[in-house]
Amino acid sequence: MCALHVLFLAVLLAMSATGHAAALRADLRHVDSGRGFTKRELLRRMATRSRARVDSRWSPPPGRGANAHAAVTAPLTRGTVGKEEFNSDYVIHFAIGTPQPQPVALALDTGSDLVWTQCDCDVCFDQPFPALNTSASDTLRGVSCYDPLCARGRLKLSGCAAGDNLCLYVYSYADKSMTTGLIFEDTFSFKAPNGKVAAVPNLRFGCGMYNAGKFGPTESGVAGFARGPLSLPSLLKLPRFSHCFTTLVESRTSPMFLGTPDNLGAQATGPIQSTPFVRSPAGPFGTLYYISLKGITVGKTRLPFDASEFAVKDGISGGTIIDSGSSITSFPLPVFRSLRKAFMSQVPLPVANVSATDPDTMLCFLTSPKKEAPAMPKLILHLDGADWDLPRENYVLDVEDVDDGSGGGPCLVINSADESSPTIIGNFQQQNTHIVYDLEKNKLVFVPARCDKL
Ligand SMILES: *[C@@H]1O[C@H](CO)[C@@H](O)[C@H](O)[C@H]1NC(C)=O
Ligand SMILES: *[C@@H]1O[C@H](CO)[C@@H](O)[C@H](O)[C@H]1NC(C)=O
Repeated sequence: MCALHVLFLAVLLAMSATGHAAALRADLRHVDSGRGFTKRELLRRMATRSRARVDSRWSPPPGRGANAHAAVTAPLTRGTVGKEEFNSDYVIHFAIGTPQPQPVALALDTGSDLVWTQCDCDVCFDQPFPALNTSASDTLRGVSCYDPLCARGRLKLSGCAAGDNLCLYVYSYADKSMTTGLIFEDTFSFKAPNGKVAAVPNLRFGCGMYNAGKFGPTESGVAGFARGPLSLPSLLKLPRFSHCFTTLVESRTSPMFLGTPDNLGAQATGPIQSTPFVRSPAGPFGTLYYISLKGITVGKTRLPFDASEFAVKDGISGGTIIDSGSSITSFPLPVFRSLRKAFMSQVPLPVANVSATDPDTMLCFLTSPKKEAPAMPKLILHLDGADWDLPRENYVLDVEDVDDGSGGGPCLVINSADESSPTIIGNFQQQNTHIVYDLEKNKLVFVPARCDKL
């Protein structure tokens, strides 16, 4: 194998057992970074994707909940992203196969489990490089349909492929996107510390041969990071993983660490805090990352909601999740309205037309063009054991042109959602913050950081 130094995971795990940093590293790219979008376009695109995600995943089951259906950002979502309608934000890059590792670019999704990439395609969407060619890998092996993985219904739908005993799968997402193909196992190659390559053999993934739905042109499949047995953290038996998103307006990649990240304090610009993951509701949301939100402060006002309002109700609705696949944080309508009111009463600026008429849309203020970006009231999320004091750039976007004609100004990058939806902490709010999913200790650790220096 060429000039690359290959380490094996066993070595890395042995290193981490002795306490040395040994995380594998992968680069994340934001779908919109470096593509020349204006801030207004970025905001609209984020709002559209978040809305689609809320709609597809957290629509109340029939007969439940109000029909004040995810009333997010009507004016800002006007228009369509058309062909580019897809729901993922960050794409993780690594490679599969030997001797020549073939690139994959998978949507980072903490909301699903399966890891799959397009391969030997019959029906495929456009992707940035040729789909995985299974004949070109020496180490690729099929997985029997009698394997417990295939038989035990861990996949939503699976069985024996006609003619051989390979594990055939069908995996669908709530937004009706789907992938069908065979489960294979092969060697995955990641970056290791010191610029080396870490090859991890025998990892199972979906080889998607028929794929359709809301997939973007910068990705070749999906990397599930939820808590189920087929997700990438489970396959790699990771005690923890982390990411640090660079800001959306710069076109840098963001680092992701699979394993225990190096010195967490290294590029910190604030304190290290943590909050426990809490029990997720049963059913389809059971593998998501729930945390406990206890209150919200806007400037000088503590909003009149306590922990019980943010907790999971009736065993299924509500709750608070951290979701790197959602662009924008969203709150159930009553909370959103109260938050909006608190900002309106504390910001001495006119409200943009776009949001003046509808109390459930994203809030934008107007400033005169020459003025520098105005200060905004603080926004603090009070979590169990931690106060997440968001920096201005993690909840405000200074948009050049809010509403045709009315001018520009700061927009709150916060959405409303249906009353029964969970509160979702999205990735815009996580910029320049190193977020560690500590699976071993069952907690979320976060620290403000210079992500571009990590
Ligand atoms: C796949 O790889 C095989 C073996 O290297 C090669 O012969 C074949 O042309 C490749 N197929 C495509 C579609 O590139
Ligand atoms: C705001 O909306 C009103 C009513 O639609 C319209 O008359 C007015 O011109 C708008 N203002 C700006 C600055 O666009």
